[in-house]
Amino acid sequence: MGQDGFRAEEIDTSRPHPARIYDYLLGGKDNYEVDQRAGDALAAAAPEVRIGLRANREFLRRAVRYVVGSGVRQILDIGTGLPTSPNVHEIAHEVAPDVRVAYVDNDPIVSAHADALLSGSGANSIVLADLRDPRAIVDHPDVRRVIDFDEPVAVLLVAIVHFLTDADEPERIVATLRDALPAGSFLVLSHATGDFADRTDAQAVYSKATASLNLRSRAGIERFFEGFELVDPGLAQAPFWRPDSPPPARSEEIGFYGGVARKAH
Ligand SMILES: C[S@@+](CC[C@H](N)C(=O)[O-])C[C@H]1O[C@@H](n2cnc3c(N)ncnc32)[C@H](O)[C@@H]1O
Repeated sequence: MGQDGFRAEEIDTSRPHPARIYDYLLGGKDNYEVDQRAGDALAAAAPEVRIGLRANREFLRRAVRYVVGSGVRQILDIGTGLPTSPNVHEIAHEVAPDVRVAYVDNDPIVSAHADALLSGSGANSIVLADLRDPRAIVDHPDVRRVIDFDEPVAVLLVAIVHFLTDADEPERIVATLRDALPAGSFLVLSHATGDFADRTDAQAVYSKATASLNLRSRAGIERFFEGFELVDPGLAQAPFWRPDSPPPARSEEIGFYGGVARKAH
């Protein structure tokens, strides 16, 4: 049972879930046949998808190292996904062992795997909540137990905002989170795009899943950073955001943008 009282048997295995499709494509074991079929269909529609997801994960690693290296000691990771190696708190602790992480996901399977996410210092929490209600996240007692909103926070929205439709008003959602943050905080955001290839078939795979895939253009994604200042190199294709090793083959096809921005005031 997860911290929020969700039982593993309450997990829906009849429809593919984003967290489990992602886990499957990254080579994980926490997925079901429906997710494997959806993952295979995604890989058929977008042959570079596995490289893209790994590049997204590598972007996450570099971005977390960057924000912790900039002095931030609190991370709010919304859309955590299933445990993978290394998890956000493990990446952060390599730079500074006193970083605290609040993990948030709306899929009960993530809280069912809380043990791996809560390993280590005990300074982490995992919360079952939905990004579409950002106020509930900011006010959640288990978020507040770990995150002090009077001190800089890095909010991670990595590969999650594309699961919000325009009707969900994602700009308003990100702005609500931004307004809860003090100056010196960071937004780390990555987002799927069709700017580099036609991804209509990939989108169709998600029509049967629990969340739709909403691709956005560079301009559409840059809008999420309003009220923040993007750090160099700005919004970039994931492998080209401050790379610390040569970008993998076919990087220019990868349909993920990533960016890190600081709240100045
Ligand atoms: C593709 S995974 C990304 C995992 C991790 N952030 C990364 O980039 O490696 C997206 C995660 O967002 C979660 N998610 C999707 N929509 C959400 C929502 N509205 N509220 C909270 N979590 C959501 C999914 O359950 C899934 O675990």
